[in-house]
Amino acid sequence: MKWIFIIILGISLAETALGWTYHVSRRPMNWTQARQWCQSSFTDMVVIQNQDENNYLVSKLPNRTRAPYYWIGLTKQQKNETWTWIGNNSTWIGEESWAPNEPNNNHITEFCVEIYVNNGPNRGKWNDEKCANKKYAVCYKAQCNATSCDRGRCQETMENITCLYEPEPGFEGDSQVSQETFLTAVECPTLSQPDNGYLSCSGGNLTFNSTCRFKCQPGSLVIGSPAVTCGVNGVWSGPRPTCASYKQALYAVAGCGALSAFCCICFCWMKRRKGKKLSQERMPEEATSPFGEVQA
Ligand SMILES: *[C@@H]1O[C@H](CO)[C@@H](O)[C@H](O)[C@H]1NC(C)=O
Ligand SMILES: *[C@@H]1O[C@H](CO)[C@@H](O)[C@H](O)[C@H]1NC(C)=O
Ligand SMILES: *[C@@H]1O[C@H](CO)[C@@H](O)[C@H](O)[C@H]1NC(C)=O
Ligand SMILES: *[C@@H]1O[C@H](CO)[C@@H](O)[C@H](O)[C@H]1NC(C)=O
Ligand SMILES: *[C@@H]1O[C@H](CO)[C@@H](O)[C@H](O)[C@H]1NC(C)=O
Ligand SMILES: *[C@@H]1O[C@H](CO)[C@@H](O)[C@H](O)[C@H]1NC(C)=O
Ligand SMILES: *[C@@H]1O[C@H](CO)[C@@H](O)[C@H](O)[C@H]1NC(C)=O
Ligand SMILES: *[C@@H]1O[C@H](CO)[C@@H](O)[C@H](O)[C@H]1NC(C)=O
Repeated sequence: MKWIFIIILGISLAETALGWTYHVSRRPMNWTQARQWCQSSFTDMVVIQNQDENNYLVSKLPNRTRAPYYWIGLTKQQKNETWTWIGNNSTWIGEESWAPNEPNNNHITEFCVEIYVNNGPNRGKWNDEKCANKKYAVCYKAQCNATSCDRGRCQETMENITCLYEPEPGFEGDSQVSQETFLTAVECPTLSQPDNGYLSCSGGNLTFNSTCRFKCQPGSLVIGSPAVTCGVNGVWSGPRPTCASYKQALYAVAGCGALSAFCCICFCWMKRRKGKKLSQERMPEEATSPFGEVQA
């Protein structure tokens, strides 16, 4: 059974199933065919994003003693275009990626790239080639899927799958790589007991979503909201209320009434004074104008 798979699908280079797995075709093919084969049997033709990936890939591929070597997913459409990786259009080219004197566009139409994997000095280096030439396809298969990371985002590298968890509002922690369960809820500052009153909060810690309710001793009144909730930013939904005895409350109401009455009186007085001042200013004008007319 294993051999049948190898004959149909080529050679799988995977030892572990973590991260991308790499696969090589048994027969050489032109670049277009190679990519089609990769897309139909795996995810796509191999993409290299940095020198470590290049070295890792080279270490996994079977050595060849002579051409043909292996196609990689780096290509361009026209002579003056930049080399672009398939997939996300990255244009990464390392300092020492190309073999000496490459890319040389030897046949004017060398728009595809091969990687040398041999025992020679150019091991792991790249060379531009005509896309119609036949070489072995190197494909990768992605391991991340919709169910890999419950609520996190699956990130895949050469030998590793990581689930990234962003804290939801109301939670904090070393966000990027910790599991949701390691994240702690945002805390709100502790609330002191109001004078003449009681405070009762849900749960042990005053964290996001906990609610504190206030009760005042008999004979006194809650001034303010009787319950506050810890918000996503660690701030209570309102100020802590105070307890006031009915007597105090009455005084407060009376005081408030007195204050508003005072304000009202003040306002009326000011308004009247202003009106008076205005009429005083206007009077001389009215008095002088008749003389002006007479003089003219
Ligand atoms: C890559 O570039 C091509 C051509 O500009 C564009 O059609 C394609 O959508 C791009 N792909 C991505 C993943 O950005
Ligand atoms: C393409 O994807 C790789 C990871 O797979 C990333 O490192 C790189 O920055 C991406 N490049 C662009 C141009 O988006
Ligand atoms: C291929 O050749 C290199 C360099 O000589 C060697 O280190 C490596 O072990 C060889 N790989 C295989 C799979 O034989
Ligand atoms: C690659 O091979 C296919 C099938 O043999 C052929 O149709 C296609 O024209 C070839 N492409 C190139 C660029 O030579
Ligand atoms: C998704 O990936 C996980 C490992 O990341 C694997 O166990 C599971 O079988 C995969 N599911 C599907 C439908 O491919
Ligand atoms: C996998 O990648 C993550 C994030 O880049 C890293 O923290 C972790 O140590 C890696 N695990 C292994 C086994 O390499
Ligand atoms: C309260 O927080 C402490 C540490 O911050 C934690 O050990 C404890 O389990 C928490 N209690 C509850 C009920 O969440
Ligand atoms: C906050 O509390 C309400 C009611 O107690 C609950 O329905 C809701 O799921 C909680 N939200 C979070 C994020 O814990």
